[in-house]
Amino acid sequence: MNDKSETLASLSHEERRYAPQEDLVAQANVTQQTYDDAAADRLGFWEKAAERLEWGQRWDRVLDWDDPPFAKWFVGGTLNASYNCVDRHVEAGNGDRVAIHWIGEPEDDTRDITYAQLKDEVSQAANALSDMGVGTGDRVAIYMPMIPETAIAMLACARLGAIHTVVFGGFSSDALASRVLDCEAKVIVTSDGGYRRGAPSGLKPAVDEAVAKVAQEDADLVTNVLVVQRTGQDVEWNDSLDVWWHDAVGGASTEHTPEQFDAEHPLFVMYTSGTTGKPKGILHTTGGYLVQTSYTHWATFDLKPETDVFWTAADIGWITGHSYIVYGPLANGTTSVMYEGTPDTPHKGRWWEIVQKYGVTILYCAPTAIRTFMKWGSEIPEEYDLSTLRVLGSVGEPINPEAYVWYRDTIGAGKAPVMDTWWQTETGGHMITPLPGVTHGKPGSAMTAFPGISAEVVDDEGTPVGDGEGGLLVITEPWPAMLRTLWGDDERFKETYWSRFADQGYYFAGDGAKKDEDGDLWLLGRVDDVMNVSGHRMSTTEIESALVSHPKVAEAAVVGAADETTGQAVCAFVILRESALQGGEEASDDLIQELRMHVQKEIGAIAKPRQIMVVPELPKTRSGKIMRRLLKDVAENREVGDVTTLADSTVMDLIKDGSSSGG
Ligand code: WTA
Repeated sequence: MNDKSETLASLSHEERRYAPQEDLVAQANVTQQTYDDAAADRLGFWEKAAERLEWGQRWDRVLDWDDPPFAKWFVGGTLNASYNCVDRHVEAGNGDRVAIHWIGEPEDDTRDITYAQLKDEVSQAANALSDMGVGTGDRVAIYMPMIPETAIAMLACARLGAIHTVVFGGFSSDALASRVLDCEAKVIVTSDGGYRRGAPSGLKPAVDEAVAKVAQEDADLVTNVLVVQRTGQDVEWNDSLDVWWHDAVGGASTEHTPEQFDAEHPLFVMYTSGTTGKPKGILHTTGGYLVQTSYTHWATFDLKPETDVFWTAADIGWITGHSYIVYGPLANGTTSVMYEGTPDTPHKGRWWEIVQKYGVTILYCAPTAIRTFMKWGSEIPEEYDLSTLRVLGSVGEPINPEAYVWYRDTIGAGKAPVMDTWWQTETGGHMITPLPGVTHGKPGSAMTAFPGISAEVVDDEGTPVGDGEGGLLVITEPWPAMLRTLWGDDERFKETYWSRFADQGYYFAGDGAKKDEDGDLWLLGRVDDVMNVSGHRMSTTEIESALVSHPKVAEAAVVGAADETTGQAVCAFVILRESALQGGEEASDDLIQELRMHVQKEIGAIAKPRQIMVVPELPKTRSGKIMRRLLKDVAENREVGDVTTLADSTVMDLIKDGSSSGG
């Protein structure tokens, strides 16, 4: 973290300031008054935000924090998330409004789905799932490409009170199997395949493998696999499990009466990487999550549902997609764009062509995408009419000032403000962000806590640091969309987030942060063994376990090294087994490639190391802990830092000599 703080120290001397545009201020959803109101009465503020939704039964208590860290919000209230995202817009006379402009990767493969159509399809899917025996509290795994059916399946689960767990379609069959087993999902929703860079790529084969693995542990767990036909590619078919979506959902009734569920009824589990190898199942519940995602979506982006065209360019398989493609936007009756493909298929102007064609007014994406577009050159977006864009968002990792300014100038015509939103899978929704009608933005700073959110930067003892100082980011008060626990593991929940500052009762986010001279917040990245690659969380230990599971690898250490485009990149150091070395296996390119592919098979392509260095030793402390900090120095081609706590201080010389050969 040290070198990072130094960079950030220079960054936060950033002098550029962007006052909010006058036209935005004049009609802004949120003003300074909102901050003041929330500061005066935090729970009253969230209560008002909750009134934007439709409830069966009103709550009788806003927050129950009697048994921290287990929060209950809107106690006694009942609602249906699917009804709030779909039916109520139809009942309000907006059935003809487009909910989703879906754009497939193959050009001209598009669908516009109105709220009325969405209601029909979600109802059909709910009826089909219900016919498969899915009921309240059951778990359903969703392993899909970016197609409307992914959102429809989620909303169908929510409608039934079933708990969905969406597994990113880029994950391996092993990753899918372990998640299905961990949350005991009885049904898996998938598709034959999806399109990736111009070619169909299979998903069903990975599901078949996962189902076989799951069956070894629990033969009766998975009872059905519901398969959307997307690419038309050949698939293996198991008559006792597999059901086509177009048969089961297509043939179901469009009538389905949603039931009201308790505000604390589980809505979904989203697995995310932690500091150990085993992914954590983050549990979100219905009321608080929907209140915060819908309210933040409306406030952060200054959303006008009647006129805006909103686009979150992320995958539904991540929390950003859950909160800001599905639940937030749909609860607000938004017209959204949903795009299946990559930014350069079939050409590098694809995003901008979409903005122009659909008149996108709000764009939300990750800094890694922005840096990639910068690298490709301003000429590409300049060919398109982007004048409809009025608010821009950034999420997933710190946005460097250069990328921020380029985004604002080139994509936002020098006037669309950039909302740098800090939050996490665990927080459910935005926590620290500028707001379009209020904030004087500083490139690179996420600025201030959202109204009704209490964030602080503290030192190791939990004491707030002064302006101009750095420390650890904590959240000091519970918030509506906070995770409620880790699936099946209350102890790990307490240990991971609440033990570091147990005396103060603070939530420890795992991020370093700094307050600048004005008290504004700058996020400095993770302080634990979690990497951030293209805005995706990866655990160093998880990738290490994958490497060590290869028969030729004896030991492995993984670090996230700074990368110009992806923020961080996975760099691995491996010690080969004697047997591999005796077999004449040097650090050959073939072997490196084999190990990279092995990680891809075990976890998924996103985890594939950029670089693998074969080394004779790893730097360890006397207690045997790998000093990743030193490896990071090597991976980033820096002078190696302090080695005095190493058990053997000569190890680093061996590593530096060795590492040059196998990169
Ligand atoms: C990082 C994604 C700096 C941070 C929504 C956090 C950010 C982790 C920002 C959560 C931001 C996210 N500035 N860092 N605006 N947004 N992060 O769970 O390290 O995939 O802890 O949630 O991403 O990643 P997750």
